Amino acid sequence: MSQEQWTAVDRYITDLLVPHDPALDEAVQASTEAGLPPIAVSPNQGKLLQLIARVQGAHTILELGTLGGYSTIWLARALPPGGRVITLEANPQYSEVARANIANAGLADVVELREGPALETLPQLVAEEQGPFDLIFIDADKQNNPGYFEWALKLARCGSLIITDNVVRGGAIVDSTVEDPHHGTAGIEGIRRFFEMVAAEPRVSATAMQTVGSKGYDGFALALVIADQ
Ligand code: SAH
Ligand code: DHB
Ligand code: MG
Repeated sequence: MSQEQWTAVDRYITDLLVPHDPALDEAVQASTEAGLPPIAVSPNQGKLLQLIARVQGAHTILELGTLGGYSTIWLARALPPGGRVITLEANPQYSEVARANIANAGLADVVELREGPALETLPQLVAEEQGPFDLIFIDADKQNNPGYFEWALKLARCGSLIITDNVVRGGAIVDSTVEDPHHGTAGIEGIRRFFEMVAAEPRVSATAMQTVGSKGYDGFALALVIADQ
């Protein structure tokens, strides 16, 4: 199996099942033009997140790691009227691009972007008694995944779903000799400690799925909160 084949199959699926949305296409284009790294979820992964949010009946979504707002727009489009997304982004330049993309998608009133390191903005959300969020998507810097999972639990309720992106990293998760090309060993260590925390956490029931596609070989973890916080 090759990257070329994974990309071709992704294209097949996307062409049939993931219709073009001008706002999403424009978000990708504007992000590329602004020099953002090409690390947003793929179109069919965005659609998957949107379908999960709909199955979940989510009214409130929290995202960690906005980048240019691509996954944010997919998630926000899952919401019923009155629904809300709060998305956290550390990089001011990315935040500016994301705000423009979100506004261009007509979602400025649905999405609130909070700029700053998530380990600083998450305690603020708790202090403000924001949440509980029905769905939490963890997709920021991977070395902080253990901390993000702890804060996610504080902002969740029984029945909330916590999805974490990039938990396989080309198989590096099980191979100590393989370094995550983008996050280095700190990222991999963070993902491993995240898995250990999830495994030891009685308040969630979880698994993870490996994925291949246009964005390579990676995976999502899904943790359903099964106890009151
Ligand atoms: N969810 C996006 C991709 C996010 S990429 C999508 O799929 O479209 C990861 C993002 O996390 C980057 O934009 C990066 O700037 C951001 N990030 C990195 N460290 C962070 C931190 N400490 N707090 C908040 N965001 C952070
Ligand atoms: C990368 C991919 C991601 O989906 C992400 O959230 C962060 C980084 C990457 O491939 O480097
Ligand atoms: Mg990601």
